[in-house]
Amino acid sequence: MSFQLNEEQKMVRLMARDFARKELEPEAARRDKEGIFPVEVVKKMGQLGLLGMMVPVEYGGVGASAVSYCLALQEIAYSCASTAVTMSVANLSTEPLLKFGNEDQKAKYLFGLAQGELLGCFALTEPGAGSDPGSLSTRAENKGDYYLINGTKIFITHGQYADVVNLITRTDQDKGSKGLSAFIVEKGTPGFSIGTREDKMGLRASNTVELIFDNCRVPQKNLLGREGIGFKIAMTALDSGRIGIASQALGITRACLDESIKYARERKQFGKTISSFQAIQWMIADMATGLEAANLLTLSAAWKKDHKLPFTKEASMAKLFASELANKSAYMALQIHGGYGYLKDFKIERLYRDVRATSIYEGTSEIQRLVIARHLLKD
Ligand code: CAA
Repeated sequence: MSFQLNEEQKMVRLMARDFARKELEPEAARRDKEGIFPVEVVKKMGQLGLLGMMVPVEYGGVGASAVSYCLALQEIAYSCASTAVTMSVANLSTEPLLKFGNEDQKAKYLFGLAQGELLGCFALTEPGAGSDPGSLSTRAENKGDYYLINGTKIFITHGQYADVVNLITRTDQDKGSKGLSAFIVEKGTPGFSIGTREDKMGLRASNTVELIFDNCRVPQKNLLGREGIGFKIAMTALDSGRIGIASQALGITRACLDESIKYARERKQFGKTISSFQAIQWMIADMATGLEAANLLTLSAAWKKDHKLPFTKEASMAKLFASELANKSAYMALQIHGGYGYLKDFKIERLYRDVRATSIYEGTSEIQRLVIARHLLKD
């Protein structure tokens, strides 16, 4: 067993770090304040291959490993957690096509998604279906050569800017989670529009909107796989997505740690730098130890994905542990900063707001525990 990164992994991490420090970090605070989605920056990330990293070379991607993807995403999150969720959801949105798309669908969409010409999003959640997507009610009626889609999706990351939507709908009223189907819906399809743009507590430079389908006609050829496997497609995509959110949380934790060390070395009280106080040292030690553990959990889940081993439980463990750690780390880092940490002038104030979503989206911590426990308790 080796804990050393290989040359490809080191190179990808360096490239992402360089991009994040130069292109994201300097403007991250302003974008957060103004709630601006960085269209041009996201375009550049697409051109660098960061938005469809695991798409194989034959479909226009760079065919990076999941481990390399996690390393890159951590670097992006370290500088801007908002852009990291954009990157995570864009990569997630290539998964349904890769695993369930036919050759025509792959040829039509995957090249564009991998090379940054198209931005993809993932639409599962509805007002009445969050943790329980098996109960969703957006409906697709089979009309022969097209499906007629009606319903509303909410909390859709960069839905306003996406060119293609991975949409999970109901095609059978009586079959619960076995009655769902997945479609690719293109921006501009008549009957498909953008609703409310959410005003969020954190991740303010990411875009979160409602998608409205009102008698929207989607061609039959845009059905992914077959009718009835939409839930499986969504869960498979979320397995990968959860490794991405774990990586986002890791980037945030590392930023919390670095900000804490920097501040503790500068700030003087009682005639000494606060880094000399044990209370501060313990918080720093706890953050660093958690970071190491969460990194190993996340990279091991990614490694399993790369080696085509089951990784549903491991992805949930990584997402649970890394996002809970990131929340605790942001709390500790703000505590170390004291009153200054409560001011918008300090990066920790943004990290404290951004981090909160990591233990909620792509399955709350409670849902991750449910997934883990079901795997351990099944026959
Ligand atoms: N991979 C493949 N198949 C899976 C699967 C997986 N990971 N998980 C479940 N399935 C299959 C099961 O095997 C089962 O099939 P069979 O009946 O043939 O065995 C079927 O799906 C139903 O499974 P369950 O009975 O376990 O389903 P459930 O209704 O009890 O739900 C759940 C399970 C884990 C709670 C699931 O609903 C879940 O993950 N909920 C959370 C939803 C979520 O994460 N939403 C996030 C929205 S996206 C988002 O946030 C993106 C963003 O923008 C940031």
